[in-house]
Amino acid sequence: EKGTYDHFMLKEINDQPATMRKIIQEYQDKDENLKIDGAVIDQLKSSDRIYIIAAGTSYHAGLIGKEYFEKWAGVPTEVHVASEFVYNTPLLSEKPLFIFISQSGETADSRAVLVDVKKQGHKSLTVTNVPGSTLAREADETLILHAGPEIAVASTKAYTAQIAVLSILAQVTARELGKDTEINLMRELAKVTTAITAVIDDAPEIEQIVNEYLETTRNAFFIGRTMDYYVGVEGALKLKEISYIQAEGFAGGELKHGTIALIEENTPVFALATQERVNLNIRGNAQEVEARGAKVCMVSMEGMDQEGDTYVIPQVHEMLTPLVSVVVYQLIAYYAALHRGNDVDKPRNLAKSVTVE
Ligand code: F6R
Repeated sequence: EKGTYDHFMLKEINDQPATMRKIIQEYQDKDENLKIDGAVIDQLKSSDRIYIIAAGTSYHAGLIGKEYFEKWAGVPTEVHVASEFVYNTPLLSEKPLFIFISQSGETADSRAVLVDVKKQGHKSLTVTNVPGSTLAREADETLILHAGPEIAVASTKAYTAQIAVLSILAQVTARELGKDTEINLMRELAKVTTAITAVIDDAPEIEQIVNEYLETTRNAFFIGRTMDYYVGVEGALKLKEISYIQAEGFAGGELKHGTIALIEENTPVFALATQERVNLNIRGNAQEVEARGAKVCMVSMEGMDQEGDTYVIPQVHEMLTPLVSVVVYQLIAYYAALHRGNDVDKPRNLAKSVTVE
């Protein structure tokens, strides 16, 4: 039930702090240590490479997951769009582990890969919101997102739940492999929860951003570097699917290799700056488009913010910023769709779960 909310999407955006708390609770033992089923950890420990298979928003969560598996656990990881992988399978390592990320657990493109992988005798793990779904039943192992039912077609809380669960999985793997990359993840996720709440409380301010940047535009760009790039791609997808504004996410440094030709007077460009290492670079890229007339909405993080930034998220661990910054983009997409009078929860041409290939 959407209760007092006008739309399921807004309710589900608002559910995210509770979902984070639920995940923290579900994935810790009685001593408050991170806990993942032993069989899943065995899969990871005996693999030489992870292949993440997903579609849409779940694919975007996979891109963040790759960072966790490589930077924390030291396991080489590839992320693949399911519909491409089926017909263009890359060379596989000797001991691959396939991780399927799917909110619904019913996506036909992902299932086609799973069927194939099983035929070849490879190991599989499904990360899904729906226990008992097809991908959950057919994979060797399953991890549940605990996000509760997601009704709006545009995925919000499942994306943040996917990232949170992948972070836990990667941290436990790092611990089990004896890596020195362990952080106090539960404490950091608790901080993330507070930060998400702060962003949600700023919804009126974010609605103002929509008034200022998106009321009449036909297109918009999202730029970022490293993890902020992946969040930009997700922000663009969210905006496209419910507001019907043409939007694209780009790596900040790649814009000048062609796409910058599309920048005109007042073209909205959302730039995300939460990563210290590339903070100056992305700000340079923002200046490049601004010099060509773009209207830049700079979203940054406390500690890295500069005067004039449009919106600043609270400071969280640098690997976990997507969990907070994406909420800004979810709300931007929501208000943009609302202001255009669109059916927010049921955008045209789309279904909640895509069960055809
Ligand atoms: C976007 C969206 C879709 C889904 C995609 C995969 O908001 O909802 O892009 O993410 O269809 O669906 P699942 O995660 O159910 O496999």
